[in-house]
Amino acid sequence: MNLPNHQLTMTLLMTPDKTNFFGNVHGGDVLRLLDQVAYACASRYAGRHVVTLSVDQVTFKQPIHVGELLTFLASVNYTGTSSIEVGVKVIAENILTKELRHVNSCFLTMVAMDENRRPIAVPKFSPSTPEEERRYKGAVLRREMRKELEQKFNAVRVPQN
Ligand SMILES: CC(C)(COP(=O)(O)OP(=O)(O)OC[C@H]1O[C@@H](n2cnc3c(N)ncnc32)[C@H](O)[C@@H]1OP(=O)(O)O)[C@@H](O)C(=O)NCCC(=O)NCCS
Repeated sequence: MNLPNHQLTMTLLMTPDKTNFFGNVHGGDVLRLLDQVAYACASRYAGRHVVTLSVDQVTFKQPIHVGELLTFLASVNYTGTSSIEVGVKVIAENILTKELRHVNSCFLTMVAMDENRRPIAVPKFSPSTPEEERRYKGAVLRREMRKELEQKFNAVRVPQN
């Protein structure tokens, strides 16, 4: 396989077992696949098991249809010490017309774990193309935004006793 260590692609046929009540693909199935592909991408990069720490905003602006091919393009955008941001772009393809639609993009943060189930450092990711540089800078900004958002959520959270 020639894919670089920080990238991964998965293509699946959207079969009728994945439908919602409107006959389109169920959002929960797509979320599960996003998590799976992010796991595969991050763990292959780190050579470690990883756990999902967070999934950034996922917005489904268009339905995905049964019978379409769904391709998940995943890449490591950024590494902290033990965390890895994986970006996933989702493309739906109509097999008959060949029409391609960009149906979703999202960012998942995965944390590499050691044998004692503690976070462990991962190889540092250094961007080597202008595209990777752009994604890396975006990931640094998102890391900051996540912290700010968490603080804001905590401020409005109803206290639990
Ligand atoms: C992920 C987990 C191991 C982190 O544990 P922790 O005690 O916070 O560990 P650390 O403080 O060493 O943090 C590990 C990394 O997570 C990041 N992190 C932890 N909490 C965070 C938060 N609230 N927001 C953003 N990043 C966070 C840290 O910045 C660190 O990243 P870095 O090493 O790249 O700087 C722990 O939260 C966990 O086990 N979560 C459950 C994961 C899981 O089961 N997922 C599936 C759910 S069904």
